[in-house]
Amino acid sequence: MKVTELGFTISLLRTIFVFNHVASVLGGVYDVADRHKGSDFLTGFRFEALGSADPTHGRVDYVDGKTAAAMNLTFATEDSMIIKVDSTKKLDPSGPGRPSVRLRSTNEYTTFVVVAHLTHMPQGCGTWPALWTLTSTDNWPAEGEIDIMEGTNDLGPNAMTLHTSSGCMMPHVRPQAGTTNSTDCNAFINFNQGCSVQSGNPKSFGPSFNKAGGGWVAAERSNDSISVWFWSSGDPNVPKSVSGWESKVDTSTFGIPDAFFPNTFCDIPSHFGPQNIVIDCTLCGDLASVTYATAGCPGDCVDFVNTRPEAFVDAYWEFKSITVYT
Ligand SMILES: *[C@@H]1O[C@H](CO)[C@@H](O)[C@H](O)[C@H]1NC(C)=O
Ligand SMILES: *[C@@H]1O[C@H](CO)[C@@H](O)[C@H](O)[C@H]1NC(C)=O
Ligand SMILES: *[C@@H]1O[C@H](CO)[C@@H](O)[C@H](O)[C@H]1NC(C)=O
Repeated sequence: MKVTELGFTISLLRTIFVFNHVASVLGGVYDVADRHKGSDFLTGFRFEALGSADPTHGRVDYVDGKTAAAMNLTFATEDSMIIKVDSTKKLDPSGPGRPSVRLRSTNEYTTFVVVAHLTHMPQGCGTWPALWTLTSTDNWPAEGEIDIMEGTNDLGPNAMTLHTSSGCMMPHVRPQAGTTNSTDCNAFINFNQGCSVQSGNPKSFGPSFNKAGGGWVAAERSNDSISVWFWSSGDPNVPKSVSGWESKVDTSTFGIPDAFFPNTFCDIPSHFGPQNIVIDCTLCGDLASVTYATAGCPGDCVDFVNTRPEAFVDAYWEFKSITVYT
């Protein structure tokens, strides 16, 4: 074999290897775009003061920024941002729901990585916390929704879900640590269950998440796939680019994702438009009312929310930071 032939063979082998490597691991390099932290956190978000008009019909009253600050539902220190559900007042059953906060990022992102570092997430009977992304045009579900952290009534592990228009399906078996729970992302069927993956990590949600001191969650949306990773606080495998303050992340170094949504049967660019990041905690409503009894919660969900303010003292988010890379 001539040297040039050898060189050609090696480069051909390398191409095949790189192709296979990319096909199985995927991932890419992204540059920091926005960091939200401490007292600057809220400058990257607007309050969705929907009042009791929660799209998921929760027993909440989504307040504006001024009200949230006055009620101490938002509280920032230099290195953390706390976002709470009210735990102080009994509600008039015929009046508005329990005060809570729904934040939506002012910026929108098409292909991106978002990394959230949290030390606490809302817990308690009746709670339905979510960290997610939503079409910035409100053309839902045509332009998609990506649920990064979600669950109800302290029932873990974390559920990671896509909701789209019809024609976006996921293979049952794929390289991920979590378990496939449903495969059709179409929001118009199965009562909008979407295509969902249950985390493989019991510390990924609710009381177990909080007991472990929280952790890092990262989500990548590229044109080829959508992935979610989770590392519990103290996990030695958390990449330095996730736990540190680096200006770039390389998702090919993140390891096997907790949830992996490939483009095998879903053209991602045509099912996902630009997204805003949304942080909220609703109560009861379409999902938490349904799982309330299964979770062993007492009586009726709405009565509980109306009459038991003290049960919501742990219904708060505490973010160390949220960083978006594009
Ligand atoms: C507001 O909430 C924070 C965080 O829970 C707490 O540390 C602080 O004492 C509260 N402030 C008031 C005035 O209650
Ligand atoms: C899993 O799927 C079942 C039925 O298909 C549904 O009732 C359940 O809520 C799902 N669980 C999660 C965690 O999404
Ligand atoms: C993703 O796909 C869209 C539409 O096909 C294209 O406009 C965009 O440039 C692609 N983005 C990347 C990062 O490849």
